[in-house]
Amino acid sequence: MTQTHTIRRPDDWHLHLRDGDMLRAVLPYTSRDFARAIIMPNLVPPVVTAADARAYRDRIIAAIPGADDFTPLMTLYLTEDTDPADVAAAHADGLIAAVKLYPAGATTNSASGVSDFTKVAAVFDKMAEIGLPLCTHGEVTDADVDIFDREAVFIDRVLEPIRRDHPGLRVVMEHITTSDAVDYVKTGDTNLAATITTHHLVINRNHILAGGIKPHYYCLPVAKRETHRLALRAAATSGDSWFFLGTDSAPHTDANKLLPCGCAGCFTAPNTMSILAEVFEQDGALDRLEAFTSLNGPAFYGLPPNEATLTLIREMPDYPAHIDTADGPVTVFDPAMPLNWSV
Ligand code: DOR
Ligand code: ZN
Repeated sequence: MTQTHTIRRPDDWHLHLRDGDMLRAVLPYTSRDFARAIIMPNLVPPVVTAADARAYRDRIIAAIPGADDFTPLMTLYLTEDTDPADVAAAHADGLIAAVKLYPAGATTNSASGVSDFTKVAAVFDKMAEIGLPLCTHGEVTDADVDIFDREAVFIDRVLEPIRRDHPGLRVVMEHITTSDAVDYVKTGDTNLAATITTHHLVINRNHILAGGIKPHYYCLPVAKRETHRLALRAAATSGDSWFFLGTDSAPHTDANKLLPCGCAGCFTAPNTMSILAEVFEQDGALDRLEAFTSLNGPAFYGLPPNEATLTLIREMPDYPAHIDTADGPVTVFDPAMPLNWSV
């Protein structure tokens, strides 16, 4: 039995680091294992302008533990007032790697997102022209659409029309949760890719709802039924270049999770690589882990893969059940299965 497994150092193509004390508490778990991460801009207030992104990048860099080699890849939060020229300048400066689309009201701190897509058409045109990827939170927010159908409906009602109207726009469907999204991305258009989270490879909706409600498994998009989880596993472990890791590690304090109206998010940064090694080994695909975590993402974003390596050792990982932050404890995602690989 293989006892060690070495891959190029991974990147996380979708990460929430928050700000202030929370940033300082959670960043070391990512910078220990990952070389780069696409940083989500849904702060309060959101990261809307190039100036916001520059200041946030400086705060992140100041919080990186001294020994770690980590590069934050910044994003701008798309609003109906986003200026295409500001986006183009931020891209030309090498400041941003993508723009993030939140449909207004879709998730945590998305109130400033987009309701009227005609108002962001000029931004999409500029992004298509300069080759800057659009990262999408792919869910509609219509009250009459069932929450379990919101991703599939987004593809038909929102994403397909945007891509038709803005040919050449590069799109990452983030944190996909359905076989519908897997099939859509698999059509093989070179301008389309998807990230898959660690937790959506492990949990289905029963984990959230069966035998008592489990707020720590509640995230958005919400985990779907088992057939969808299996489609995600097949996509991630396929090695197919259009699928890559975006953990969506999203820390919230227990106080904010365990409420009558609790926050969405799973905090997976501390144990993501151990969980992924387990998942890929279970599916006989350990040799394709590197494609998912370290090769496919850079290829889509037009960046070189990392030269440094990460070695997994067959050994039970040691990670805390929760981490302490100045705002209170944050619970680490429980994969609900024994893990056999440590970084
Ligand atoms: O579960 C989630 N948490 N999904 C999101 O889209 C946002 C994130 C957060 O910021 O907490
Ligand atoms: Zn997210």
